[in-house]
Amino acid sequence: MIDSQTRNELLRLAAQARERSYSPYSHYSVGAALLTKDGKIYQGCNIENASFTPTICAERTAFFKAIYDGERDFSAIAVIGSGDSPAYPCGVCRQVMAEFCNSDFEIITSNRDGSEVVTETLDSMLLHRFGPKDLQ
Ligand code: THU
Repeated sequence: MIDSQTRNELLRLAAQARERSYSPYSHYSVGAALLTKDGKIYQGCNIENASFTPTICAERTAFFKAIYDGERDFSAIAVIGSGDSPAYPCGVCRQVMAEFCNSDFEIITSNRDGSEVVTETLDSMLLHRFGPKDLQ
């Protein structure tokens, strides 16, 4: 488990990342902050598209920036959405987490003002997942 200071820092950086959101269609902005096992933090936001399908979520933006940089080991991600309820990662983002993260990877989700924060693990969010182990 990450400590509460790190958790708060991830939430702060996720809120900051949400300000970079490009979401003119849904008007739902999301920010994420992804922590690597060696303590680096990658931020991401959702980026929408007029053709809808190319839209990418905040979580995957953060992951792909980190993966590009050569990072492969992750401890936690904080996600903040602009809604009244916590922004739970979509199924596609959970599957991306399944590619790179262990069962105990922490997923911290928050609503807009941080009044509701929920912490889960990858296991609790995506049980019986298909992943790299299935193709060995
Ligand atoms: N979105 C995220 O960025 N992360 C999630 O976990 C859920 C959905 C974005 C995608 C789209 O830009 C907007 O929220 C509405 O679906």
